[in-house]
Amino acid sequence: MYGLVNKAIEELVVTHYGEDKWEAIKAKAGVDVEVFVSNEGYPDEITYNLVGAATEVLGAPARDILIAFGEHWVLKTASHSYGAMMRSGGQSLKEFLINLPNFHTRVQMIYPKLQPPRFECTDIGDDSLKLHYHTHRPGLADFVVGLVQGLGKLYHTPATATLIDSKAAGADHDVFEVRWTAATA
Ligand code: HEM
Repeated sequence: MYGLVNKAIEELVVTHYGEDKWEAIKAKAGVDVEVFVSNEGYPDEITYNLVGAATEVLGAPARDILIAFGEHWVLKTASHSYGAMMRSGGQSLKEFLINLPNFHTRVQMIYPKLQPPRFECTDIGDDSLKLHYHTHRPGLADFVVGLVQGLGKLYHTPATATLIDSKAAGADHDVFEVRWTAATA
């Protein structure tokens, strides 16, 4: 994955737990990269090892770390560094989710070697939809839960994503039921 993913994990850890914990996580993960470069590609293994080491060093389950990372990605990384791109995604949570299938096509203009996930929305209602998530990468469903929760916060529209069908349970891909409540001020 591009370095900006690992950089965002670093930022999340350093902000909430401090520099020492980040160094301990890198050491446990066997990662000797001093500085991650945003537009450089790194093996996915590095990202997985960092998350695995974080569960041990921080004493938190992978699910909690991936959800926190998803929220951080939307509310900090994407909103601060790619604000215009995020705004072009839609004016409400529902609109953003409906446009999500095309989102990484724009990201690909900046990061041409991107291997993005593929999303699809079905059963679109007033306060829910089904979000289909296709990827060749295992174990990232909780990251998607955090991303959706983060988008809910971004649009002041509290949202939940519940896995209702999963690749881990033999389905073709992961499916989430996303539910939201009316926007708050
Ligand atoms: C401007 C905002 C965004 C940028 C710059 C961005 C960029 C990226 C990058 C660089 C990767 C790693 C893949 C690779 O390097 O090949 C990635 C993965 C991913 N992105 Fe985005 N992304 C953005 C917003 C979003 C949003 C809003 C969602 C969903 C709600 C999302 C869902 C994902 C998921 C689930 C992955 C994990 C990889 C996988 O499933 O295979 N991204 N994105």
